[in-house]
Amino acid sequence: MSEETKKAKVIAIVNHKGGCGKTTSTVNLASEFARQGNSVLVVDLDPQANATLHIGNTHPSKVPVSSAELLTGDDSMLPLAVQEETTIEGVSLISGSLALGKAEDELKDLSPRPNEELRSKLQPAIAVFDVILIDCPPSLKLLASNALAAATHVIVPIEAGDQYGLYGAEDLLKKVTQIRRINPDLEMLGALLIKYDDRQTICKLLAGQAEKTFGKLLPEKISQGTAVQKAAVLKTSTHGVDRSSKPARQFRQLAAALAKQLQLKVSDDVLAEEAAA
Ligand SMILES: Nc1ncnc2c1ncn2[C@@H]1O[C@H](COP(=O)(O)OP(=O)(O)OP(=O)(O)O)[C@@H](O)[C@H]1O
Ligand SMILES: [Mg+2]
Repeated sequence: MSEETKKAKVIAIVNHKGGCGKTTSTVNLASEFARQGNSVLVVDLDPQANATLHIGNTHPSKVPVSSAELLTGDDSMLPLAVQEETTIEGVSLISGSLALGKAEDELKDLSPRPNEELRSKLQPAIAVFDVILIDCPPSLKLLASNALAAATHVIVPIEAGDQYGLYGAEDLLKKVTQIRRINPDLEMLGALLIKYDDRQTICKLLAGQAEKTFGKLLPEKISQGTAVQKAAVLKTSTHGVDRSSKPARQFRQLAAALAKQLQLKVSDDVLAEEAAA
């Protein structure tokens, strides 16, 4: 496929519940899609900038053009915002920054289409990358709306051992429905269960409820494992820390399944490596 006709799959990783695994899923899926041979862009839309701290080569406070300036500036910002190199090969980054809080207020007050700024600003990137992953903040306000309006697909990470893990899910679904008015093709890929342990009744209960609420579960669940935190400290993926750890294996299999479903590139070498593992 020529560069001109490429159209990135844009996946928003959304849940207004804090600490449910959005950034972890973004970074590990980005790393796996890149290993499969796809060109990947991570857009950090969270003022906490955890994805940027995880894979960025520059501290969020020192990045001259972050997603905040991209959202509020003119169309010339995109090339300045995209950092081609990160700590993960094949993954580029638009950093998050604290300025996103102010940018969200500015959008509300100044933009004629406050939900559609990101979609419009990312257009040139959609023609270049195979996949764009948007890491959302723990809120359902304008930043999340912008992510959903720019997205082709949505993933909702859910903390499987948390009895309140589905609290507010209805609001999230309402927001998706609302954004479909301006982005009718937005597709729900499903809930992704994080820190899942099939020996725990609460996890099984939540899995059943999540499936009912979101219509589908993603084909892999992610176990709790120390490789996840180690990966953040070492600025790599779970695969980079310990490829035989459960979370690394599960993110690999999830990415391979999604790559097939979304017609992204799938590397025969990676599949052969997986089969031999
Ligand atoms: N499978 C896992 N095993 C162990 N720890 C995990 C796992 N997934 C996530 N964590 C840890 O849980 C915490 C929250 O994860 P993460 O930062 O990905 O959530 P988040 O939804 O992005 O949070 P926020 O809403 O603050 O942006 C982090 O410390 C992360 O390292
Ligand atoms: Mg996060």
